[in-house]
Amino acid sequence: MTESRENWGSKIGLILAMAGNAVGLGNFWRFPYVAASNGGGAFMVPYFFALIVIGIPIMLVEWSIGRYGGKHGHGTLGPMMYIQAKQAMSPKKAIIVGSLCGMIAFAVTILVNSYYNHIIGWSLGFAIHSLLGTYKSDPGAFFGAYVQDPKMLVFWVISLGILATAVMKGIQDGIESWAKIMMPVLYVFGIILGIRALTLGSPINPDWSSLKGLNFVWNPDFSQLSWSSAIAAAGQIFFTLSLGMGIIQNYASYLKPDEDIITASVATVSLNEFAEVVLGGTAVIPIAYAFLGPEGIKGSIGLAFMALPNVFSTMTGGGIFGALWFLLLFFAGITSAIAMYNYLVALLEEDAGIDRKKGAWIVFIGYLIVGAPIALESVLTKSANLMYFTEVDNWIGNYLLIVLGLIEIVVIGWCVKDSALEEMNKGGLWKVPKWFFRLFHQFLTPVTIITFLVFFTRDYWIQGNFKLIPSYVSSTPEFIPWVNLGRAVVIIVLVIGFIQSYKSIKSK
Ligand code: PHE
Ligand code: NA
Repeated sequence: MTESRENWGSKIGLILAMAGNAVGLGNFWRFPYVAASNGGGAFMVPYFFALIVIGIPIMLVEWSIGRYGGKHGHGTLGPMMYIQAKQAMSPKKAIIVGSLCGMIAFAVTILVNSYYNHIIGWSLGFAIHSLLGTYKSDPGAFFGAYVQDPKMLVFWVISLGILATAVMKGIQDGIESWAKIMMPVLYVFGIILGIRALTLGSPINPDWSSLKGLNFVWNPDFSQLSWSSAIAAAGQIFFTLSLGMGIIQNYASYLKPDEDIITASVATVSLNEFAEVVLGGTAVIPIAYAFLGPEGIKGSIGLAFMALPNVFSTMTGGGIFGALWFLLLFFAGITSAIAMYNYLVALLEEDAGIDRKKGAWIVFIGYLIVGAPIALESVLTKSANLMYFTEVDNWIGNYLLIVLGLIEIVVIGWCVKDSALEEMNKGGLWKVPKWFFRLFHQFLTPVTIITFLVFFTRDYWIQGNFKLIPSYVSSTPEFIPWVNLGRAVVIIVLVIGFIQSYKSIKSK
């Protein structure tokens, strides 16, 4: 705690690193299929509502919690939330709050990367296949074959090695310098693909032009609006902005004490939303629409890896566009996964005194272990069903992130209150006005999140008649063991996380 913490090297580096953290596979892989399968334009209505009511207020809170934690020598969420909560409650209660938050951040940074790193590996593998022109004629089958082939896991291990190398070098020489290269390249690739998308007719069906696809995203059909699409929208906002994970706070802990966090959080949100809504929404969805039509686009997890490659393989210069697309996914994924990786390295550094280099290798081994079930499921069951993955992602995206966000907003808005607002505004070029804090942080944000949790719980448990088996596996019972394994791993990691953060707080 006495040694001085590393800082970001420059403002532009900080913003690009934060944008790298937020802009990830969530923007290009998750957003298009979640939006398309929830009604396209109808999804955008609750999406923008959640962006304003949840995304922006919590982003401000997380930057503020992180900068304050960094000032006190903390980079992980347990001690950070403890010192927040302690301002407004007894140390005993504050320890519980801190331990719960530390627990969730620990679990999420481990569990998300247990599948996220695989997708990064797929992106790298697919980019190389695109360049070499070694696609099979049916990319849908190609994806299935790809994930069942243990040889392909080499791209996963390479990606993990790249992450380890970047994180090992520290904040300025590692994370920041990688983001300064990868992020601009990512935006350039995205813009090229977006332009290509909008100049695309449809070779399949004259009724399916990419402009119709644009209309599908931007012209809401209100009859498609539903609670379940609103839930999906709020979950997507958390995921895409990297909220409720501990990684925005961790990056913010490397800020200088009075660095302007208001402008920086707004910049992060804007860069992420440009990549998501403009590039993800205007490039990916219209391309897919032009080739798949209004029904086919309601794809699944596979949209990025099955539908789009299919599209690229039928167009001229498809190999190059395919490679641009998969490299874009790869860069987006790497710069986000680095943030999770760094969180765990910081945890080892601060709580166990393990240096960065050694810590990076420990996390490397840890990610190989927690990533194993995903690899094993597809290789052993000879399928691309990915039920373990789906189950783990469901718990993270629908519960863990949101519960952490709720605890943060309640501690800041209801417990620490005005002095939290003061802290947030320190050094700001412009300030968060009191009315905004009252309206959003103290009222709309927590109320919306609580509503979300109630409705998600209703959908998942009550409408499912409290059956322990989610509907997406009941038709394929042979996958139930993988779902149960997913749940068991979630619980085990949560328990370890609680003990870890409790001890960490106690020792400080
Ligand atoms: N915001 C990231 C995204 O949109 C989410 C994320 C961050 C996921 C870090 C994993 C690791 O993809
Ligand atoms: Na994102």
